[in-house]
Amino acid sequence: MELLQVLISIVPLSSLLIAVLLYYYFKVMMTTDDDDDNNAVQMIGGGGKLPPGSRGWPLIGESMELLRAGRNGQVEKFFQDRMSKHSNQAFTTSLFGQSNMVALCGPEAHKFLFSNEHKLVNSWWPRSVHKLFPTTSRQVREDAMRMRSLIMPALLKAEALQRYVGSMDAMARRSVERGWVGKEEVRVFELVKEYAFRVACRLFMSVEDEDLVRRLVRPFGKLAAGIFAVPLDVPGTAYNKAVKASRVIREELRGMVQKRSCDHHHHHHQNGDMLSHMLKINGSETLSDEDVVNKIMGLLIGGHDTATAVITCFIKYMAELPHIYDLVLKEQREIAKLKRPGELLNWDDIQKMRHTWNVACEVMRFWAPVQGAFKEALTDFTYAGFFIPKGFKLYWNVNTTHKNPDYFAEPEKFDPWRFEGIGPAPYTYVPFGGGARTCPGKEYARLEILVFMHNLVNKYRWEKVIADEKIIVDPMPVPTNGLPIRLYPHASLRH
Ligand code: HEM
Repeated sequence: MELLQVLISIVPLSSLLIAVLLYYYFKVMMTTDDDDDNNAVQMIGGGGKLPPGSRGWPLIGESMELLRAGRNGQVEKFFQDRMSKHSNQAFTTSLFGQSNMVALCGPEAHKFLFSNEHKLVNSWWPRSVHKLFPTTSRQVREDAMRMRSLIMPALLKAEALQRYVGSMDAMARRSVERGWVGKEEVRVFELVKEYAFRVACRLFMSVEDEDLVRRLVRPFGKLAAGIFAVPLDVPGTAYNKAVKASRVIREELRGMVQKRSCDHHHHHHQNGDMLSHMLKINGSETLSDEDVVNKIMGLLIGGHDTATAVITCFIKYMAELPHIYDLVLKEQREIAKLKRPGELLNWDDIQKMRHTWNVACEVMRFWAPVQGAFKEALTDFTYAGFFIPKGFKLYWNVNTTHKNPDYFAEPEKFDPWRFEGIGPAPYTYVPFGGGARTCPGKEYARLEILVFMHNLVNKYRWEKVIADEKIIVDPMPVPTNGLPIRLYPHASLRH
């Protein structure tokens, strides 16, 4: 009691109240997962030795340390510290409300996880993500595989990708005309985000309606910001804003899907976008309109925030490293020189952008838009001599290799030439994951990034307004001030 009085005298009552609320909130949020955890813990006795590590604070675990490392732009530190303290192959931790979690580190871990999908492990996402994207909850194998078969044709087929190049180029031109031309200074992040979002709306759902795009772009920003936030659903938190935003988006998309579903049923609309691929399945199987809405929502998020992060960071490095900018400009000018006035980029042009793509790869080595992913152990197994019980959650993170001098010499040096020739060793460079879950949007993202850089570099040089602007990872890498830059149109430069 005395302790309580001392506490109340030094800590404002409101903070105590929040702490208590937080405690109960986490307890409620985690109930089912803890049930799983208890089963898993009981099995450890007979199974063997878990990887060493720390589970951090009760309930919150080590999430705050990971978030803090991200906000300092140094996610790698979280992993380096634990790999050197515990084991550089695997350590036990507790993240996103999961007290039974093991981080597997290094290329062997990536290989192991990527090649054992559906055998020893399955994809898994934290509860906070489930709540925002309900039908991905407990995503069973069939569902996940069906999702891939739905989007693969639209995302991966060469013929579909080739068609996208011209549309993306036209949209990049329009976007530069609208947001950049005539300006002395621009804030990069917002403009790039708008470009990537418009491309996604157009290519996934054939939506070009300016009003609808504008209505959706803000709630999508809030949704993205809340995906990996502390899952505290009370007014004012990032998570609560994301939950509300997801409702607004769902409402908008629902109307659109219903209309397209009806058109599709009457064979009015056969435009071959992602939505029509889904509706085809929706007509013959058990994919409800609500499933389609959720899946389109996930694709819109994954499909524009990731590329936005890469393009924004690309532009940052081009301001800082003029010798690399010059090489990119040379490559892009040669492509532009061979085009007739007004002629759009095509697939062959993209294949010539080798150096520009190497620069993008180095950008993703530094700042991977997707830092890692979770799996769930489907059965007990042993990894690197450690016992992993069934039900344990596993986490891989790009930084255990991308920022590791064992695999990338001088990891702090920006060096696109690393990707020349055979490039990095297998499973060391993994921005798109690998195995059965490899990102299906990889080629789409490549086109989107290269097309935009082509348009920008051929028009401008630029410099940063804030020389030492930091990049934070929350959960995607973004410059803290949105990267304001000063533009210098080429025509105004003396060569
Ligand atoms: C630079 C851009 C991108 C990066 C770095 C990236 C990265 C990733 C990674 C690492 C995964 C694997 C997660 C796991 O192992 O569970 C993934 C999955 C996925 N990505 Fe991407 N992605 C990018 C762009 C895109 C785009 C443009 C789309 C859609 C058009 C997309 C759609 C997906 C989907 C649907 C999955 C889930 C696949 C599955 O679970 O089977 N991504 N992405």
